[in-house]
Amino acid sequence: MRYGYFDDVEREYVITQPDTPLPWINYLGSQAYFCLISNTAGGYSFYKDARLRRLTRYRYNNAPLDCSGRYIYLRDDGASVAQTEELFWSPSWQPTRTPLDAYECRHGMGYTVIRSTLAQIEASTRYFVPMGENLEVWELTLTNHRTERAQLSVFSSVEFNLWDAMDDATNFQRNYNVGEVEVADGVIFHKTEYRERRDHFAYLACSEPIAGFDTQREAFLGPYRGYAAPVGVESGGLSDSIAHGWQPVGVQHVKVELQAGESKKIIFLLGYHENPHDAKFDPPESQTINKRLVLPTIQKYLQAKQVEKSFQELRAFWDDLFGKFQITTPDEHTNRMVNIWNVYQMMVTFNLSRSASYFESGIGRGMGFRDSNQDLLGFMHLLPERARERILDLAATQMPTGGAYHQYQPLTKRGNNDVGSNFNDDPLWLILSVAAYLKETGEWGILDEAVPYENQSGTEEPLYGHLQRSIQYTLDRLGPHGLPLIGRADWNDCLNLNCFSDSPGQSFQTTTNKDGKVAESVFIAGLFVLAAQEMQAIAHHRGDAADVGAYIEAADTMAKAVWSAGWDGDWFRRAYDDMGRALGSRENDEGRIFIEPQGICVMAGLGLEDGRALQALDSVAEHLETPHGIVLHQPAFTRYYLHLGEISSYPPGYKENAGIFCHANPWIMISEAMVGRGDKAYEYYLLINPSVREDISEVHKCEPYVYAQMIAGKDAPTHGEAKNSWLTGTATWNYVAVTQWILGIRPTYAGLEIDPVLPSDWDGFEAVRYYRGVRYRIKVERHGTGSTVRLEVNGSPVDGRVIPLPEDKSGEVEVHLGLG
Ligand code: BGC
Ligand code: NOJ
Repeated sequence: MRYGYFDDVEREYVITQPDTPLPWINYLGSQAYFCLISNTAGGYSFYKDARLRRLTRYRYNNAPLDCSGRYIYLRDDGASVAQTEELFWSPSWQPTRTPLDAYECRHGMGYTVIRSTLAQIEASTRYFVPMGENLEVWELTLTNHRTERAQLSVFSSVEFNLWDAMDDATNFQRNYNVGEVEVADGVIFHKTEYRERRDHFAYLACSEPIAGFDTQREAFLGPYRGYAAPVGVESGGLSDSIAHGWQPVGVQHVKVELQAGESKKIIFLLGYHENPHDAKFDPPESQTINKRLVLPTIQKYLQAKQVEKSFQELRAFWDDLFGKFQITTPDEHTNRMVNIWNVYQMMVTFNLSRSASYFESGIGRGMGFRDSNQDLLGFMHLLPERARERILDLAATQMPTGGAYHQYQPLTKRGNNDVGSNFNDDPLWLILSVAAYLKETGEWGILDEAVPYENQSGTEEPLYGHLQRSIQYTLDRLGPHGLPLIGRADWNDCLNLNCFSDSPGQSFQTTTNKDGKVAESVFIAGLFVLAAQEMQAIAHHRGDAADVGAYIEAADTMAKAVWSAGWDGDWFRRAYDDMGRALGSRENDEGRIFIEPQGICVMAGLGLEDGRALQALDSVAEHLETPHGIVLHQPAFTRYYLHLGEISSYPPGYKENAGIFCHANPWIMISEAMVGRGDKAYEYYLLINPSVREDISEVHKCEPYVYAQMIAGKDAPTHGEAKNSWLTGTATWNYVAVTQWILGIRPTYAGLEIDPVLPSDWDGFEAVRYYRGVRYRIKVERHGTGSTVRLEVNGSPVDGRVIPLPEDKSGEVEVHLGLG
């Protein structure tokens, strides 16, 4: 069952009924100011950091679901009060949930439009964040489709947050006292804590003269009433309340009269502003916000012309990004994801890592070290300068040991001490992201950038040194089988082999009561081989023969350890526990085979020569494949195992306990492509492709336009149900799998390689790809069933699959590839 449809021309998903199985959201903003917005206008906004600079309040776990947002109410002032159904309503359906005569929500690239009609009054609200600004626009267009005049009241409403979202949710004895606002010329300023150490505030402004306002929540709602029926809306008048503590809100009342057929635009702005510390107050000795610096911005965006201009700029920004790589294949799901939504989701994960979604509270997790490094892998061609900056930020949180803080805070860019380090895979991902950057840009200078450790000035070393230390970090931590020690966890955060947690509420990741000298990870071993190969290539390019030799040897030694202790006969093992027992082996009753080592080891090339890679992949198909994707392991853990940790804390089939962890699925797609099995790779690709799953939205439940982190596995009663949409490494990895391995358009150190491994029923595809400033027009045609390749560049045959870098660095290259 569907709840909407794709409009690929507009690059939108159009939701046609408001009660989707879960709130289906979009993100606005792509620089510093961000909003989460659902199809019924729920969500919240923040500046850079969803914990420390949250503007509006969101109550996760609320009932009804998703009932905190940026809400507009309409009231029919001409209707009789007895007509309660249509006296007032929400044009976004929530929070009044009045049945609407027409409804549609268009989630587009950086904007959302919610349009509805009731009682012949059409309301269309376009929400977006203008480029380079720290504010959001809600542009409401009202149209009177009646044959007579309509007298309406419009109310805007937001519930302000007390800035530190954690404090806001916990420290009521303080925050019920500190709330403060100012109202000036119809603009509501939220300035809680501005009197002391904050130099920033939020504001809600409106393009029309206002008939009234409220800033004290209960004055607007009425005691013991909710957002579904605020007394202020019902009665048609606000009380001009000024908040002193409690819950400050921003509510404005605008009266509108529309002739038959008339339309009118009303613009609301919700924004964030930071004043210079020594110019906070006006007059300087007062406690009144200095508004002089923010007013010009407010005035600018209250103009409809400016709003339209900014909207067009936003569209141009996205057009430009999408233009960097477009494909035309025989499959609409592939085209749609690669050309539109997968790119969009990569941008969101690039910006937000795992911090703020409808599943991540924005409080707990900052930017993940491994997460953000992986998020860069498919992202490089979009905004290489921002990727470069991110790489340097990440490297600057690295420790002198080569270890990494697992997370860092986006606002301060400092490592998060609460979570700490010792996730032993973390440092190796930095090598993969740097390698991807070099392959995309050829800008080798990045390796010479001086980058500090733990952000301490004076500790700077060229980035290349950071990479060397990443390798050394693993080599310094090898276990009894010569495999890397796992530490707190590797990629699988929930495989906690050193934790042994027996008290409820303890963190599985940071509670450790073992010295961690025994438990080893085959996954990290595979990742290490992959990273050491990249280091070898990088060292080779730098002409450092000694390093080349060292990395070849390190990779060989690790590969040997994998073959002697990490191969189980039919597949790669997963790990060794603290007692030195194998996990992910036929010896185990539960957790006998895991997806992760099959993917990463084959990606590192292990077993490609001797058939063992094929054997491992056949085992994946036999034991782990389901109609909804590939599960993480089998059999699921049916009880809690003290020595395995969080993985066994989940009920079977959910999350890391044998859920379909979508992030790891593309590793198998890549591996299948590497062994030349295009049909299998593509079959896996389609299983978790959200657009394909649109038809089963009632089962899948999450948005059909973005990947979710997890789909319930076959052991779960809700097999096929997705959770944790949006912020997941799945976005980048699927993009890499389909573009670089199935379509085979792959940046390498030497140039762009074209090496497709296509499904057998495709006769080819076309693509346009910008690469190092050059526009490549690529046409792939299948002439036979084989995988031999005939490459022609600008009409001349070329040996191999790598297109030589052209002389003209800004021109166009015609690439024709015959496959057969
Ligand atoms: C999640 C991981 C997360 C870990 C630590 C797990 O349940 O799946 O994504 O990193 O918890 O909080
Ligand atoms: C999600 C986390 O963000 C990621 O870092 C981790 O690898 C996976 N969960 C698997 O546990």
